[in-house]
Amino acid sequence: MTVTMTASGAQLLLLALCVCRGFGLQQSAPRVRLSFKELMDTKAARPFSFSFNTSDYRILLMDQDQGRLYLGSREYLVALDMHNVNKEPLIGECANFVRLIEPWNRTHLYTCGTGAYQPICTFINRGWRAEDYLFRLVPGYVDSGKGKCSYDPKQENIAVLIHGNLYAGVHIDFMSTDAALFRTMGGRAVIRTEQYDSRWLNEPVFVQIQQIPDSAERNDDKLYFFFREKTLDSSGGASPSVLARVGRVCLNDEGGQKSLVNRWTTFLKARLICSVIGEDGVETRFDELRDVFIQPTQDERNPMVYALFTTAGSVFKGSAVCVYSMADIRNVFNGPFAHKHGHNYQWTEYTGKIPYPRPGTCPGGTFTPGIRSSKNFSDEAINFIRAHPLMFHPVYPIHRRPLVVRTGVDYRFTALVVDQVDAVDGRYEVLFLGTDRGTVQKVIVLPKDPTSMEELTLEEVEVFRTRSPVKTMKISSKRQQLYVSSDAGLTQVSLHRCGVYGRACSDCCLARDPYCAWDGESCSAFTPSTKRRSRRQDVKHGDPLRQCRGFNAKVEKRLRETVQFGVEGSSTFLECQPRSPQATIKWLFQREGKRKVLNRVGGVLKTNHGILLKSLNQSDRGLYHCLATENNFKHTVARVALRILDRDIVLALTAQDEDEVPQTRQAGPYPQSSLVSTPFPPEIRLINQYCQSYWEQLSPKQQQQRKRTSRRHTESQDQGLG
Ligand SMILES: *[C@@H]1O[C@H](CO)[C@@H](O)[C@H](O)[C@H]1NC(C)=O
Ligand SMILES: *[C@@H]1O[C@H](CO)[C@@H](O)[C@H](O)[C@H]1NC(C)=O
Ligand SMILES: *[C@@H]1O[C@H](CO)[C@@H](O)[C@H](O)[C@H]1NC(C)=O
Ligand SMILES: *[C@@H]1O[C@H](CO)[C@@H](O)[C@H](O)[C@H]1NC(C)=O
Repeated sequence: MTVTMTASGAQLLLLALCVCRGFGLQQSAPRVRLSFKELMDTKAARPFSFSFNTSDYRILLMDQDQGRLYLGSREYLVALDMHNVNKEPLIGECANFVRLIEPWNRTHLYTCGTGAYQPICTFINRGWRAEDYLFRLVPGYVDSGKGKCSYDPKQENIAVLIHGNLYAGVHIDFMSTDAALFRTMGGRAVIRTEQYDSRWLNEPVFVQIQQIPDSAERNDDKLYFFFREKTLDSSGGASPSVLARVGRVCLNDEGGQKSLVNRWTTFLKARLICSVIGEDGVETRFDELRDVFIQPTQDERNPMVYALFTTAGSVFKGSAVCVYSMADIRNVFNGPFAHKHGHNYQWTEYTGKIPYPRPGTCPGGTFTPGIRSSKNFSDEAINFIRAHPLMFHPVYPIHRRPLVVRTGVDYRFTALVVDQVDAVDGRYEVLFLGTDRGTVQKVIVLPKDPTSMEELTLEEVEVFRTRSPVKTMKISSKRQQLYVSSDAGLTQVSLHRCGVYGRACSDCCLARDPYCAWDGESCSAFTPSTKRRSRRQDVKHGDPLRQCRGFNAKVEKRLRETVQFGVEGSSTFLECQPRSPQATIKWLFQREGKRKVLNRVGGVLKTNHGILLKSLNQSDRGLYHCLATENNFKHTVARVALRILDRDIVLALTAQDEDEVPQTRQAGPYPQSSLVSTPFPPEIRLINQYCQSYWEQLSPKQQQQRKRTSRRHTESQDQGLG
């Protein structure tokens, strides 16, 4: 039991501040929010703490086999241990911004940097095994970085090494006016996109690149890349200024014979749509593609494409995640081409004859076994694709709506990774979303009913000591770790910290975190391999009544009744803080055994932290129950027995205090004990008896805490009545 005496007018100001916080964002309010310090206290995160003069960290490669993470920053290249980023990092110096690290062979990596506007590349020897502790630039070897790495460190570039060929989306000139998708190195011809043709690429910003096979026939293998670019229809009005794109080329493209020589002859692109219709019927469009995460499935031809968008422009901050299927993307590439008609530059559907082989088809593939090389494509096919690189239909997301939407908030998402988690009741996709305020949100999306989905933000954690937008994120499901970088640093964060949800089964259950389950004692990480009967988990419904039978009763019993004293005529605050922002609160008032919904004549001021009862009188004496309801689960969060003190008595008591307090403070650890000897009215004697018995129950350790608290009580009492 705890005793608090509140009769403070000074507290009113504080309360007023609490009342107006946190309306309207119920759905996206995280259940748990941890500051950087709180996150560190959970021991479930580790900031990279090697100090050297650098900035602009980005994670460039995660090497699951060697358990290493390759990090590039201004003038440094760092190899980190994925288990512990602070365990003997291997650091290489290089005079530029490192922008590319790709695996070359079993022992070597290929790396490129901007090299003060003269991009250069080289090999790094990292040894056969992580235990070799080797991380060394191959001495004397330097390659030109042209077509591999951007000149300007401010330009984003993407790259992937496939069979010794480097495919890169880069700006290849000093002024960053010439952007291209390039193929360099290896045995194949150097190929690029058509130069200075805005129909192909128009000031693109490259986001992601990956090979995704289209069929079992290797000649059909394609490279998909994701970018955003400026719209060509500068006519203004309805069309957005930036568009999100998915593009593709065939890996075995050799360029044309007479025209499009050393240019892609299979380059096609399509628009990615991500938008939402609000309740007011107004469409919010998210066109600024920021990040793409490609989640493999059992079928290597059909991974899921998670794309992160923000609204274009700077006034209205909105973000969304849309998910695309490869089947939908392929359908758009197999559909009609867009055609520019007349002088007004309107894109229309091309309805004329389409040459054979259909533009975009790979040579030697399933449909063109007789054509050995792209150099054998007909002139019509080559000329057609040069003028028609854009598909007419856009790609819509699955269910034609975003999976996650954030509008009306003062932050944007900047990076995205996704994990698949096997929980007791099924498989869940968990999204980790980096923000421009240096936090990571963990979000799951569940079917609410057959037609709608429910978005749950499980937690938001601050991952950097100094607030800085999240730049890149990588996830290792195997190691259950997330790696997050920003301009100022890198932090390794565990995918879960189940303990923070609370110490009761119902807390664990209501958290609905697929990584966590109640093991009978605590909320802890759930792994299907260590399956135990007693594990309680219910992500789908989050119903503790079903999952926590027996455990809840214990919690309710453990809930202590607090005794609180109020002074007649003054106000008092009854605290009740549910763990979850999603919970709704109801107060019950109990007197002489009867419990009723609190309906006080003098009024009740509700805040996020409890209720304020103004101008108390004796009729307020009784037991107050604070009931939280979440997901149809009701439980008592606080129980407060309120006693009312007569105002005159309190005044008399504090008048006495002015003489006695200095003396009693010297007298010993129990300031109240001096009051016993004084002839005081019955209420005061009651308090003293109560406190006395309370002190006697306490262990020495708790007594120390109590000392601190009791001093505070004296102060608040002085404040309130002084
Ligand atoms: C850190 O690096 C920057 C850029 O190279 C340089 O201007 C600055 O002087 C360096 N600071 C220290 C303390 O070495
Ligand atoms: C990997 O490539 C490097 C650079 O070309 C070469 O020196 C090295 O011998 C190769 N290692 C293996 C195991 O092939
Ligand atoms: C394909 O092109 C090559 C070289 O460009 C040429 O030698 C060959 O005859 C062509 N084959 C066909 C079937 O046109
Ligand atoms: C307490 O206050 C309420 C409403 O202000 C009033 O109806 C009631 O009579 C008061 N009771 C006492 C004992 O003063």
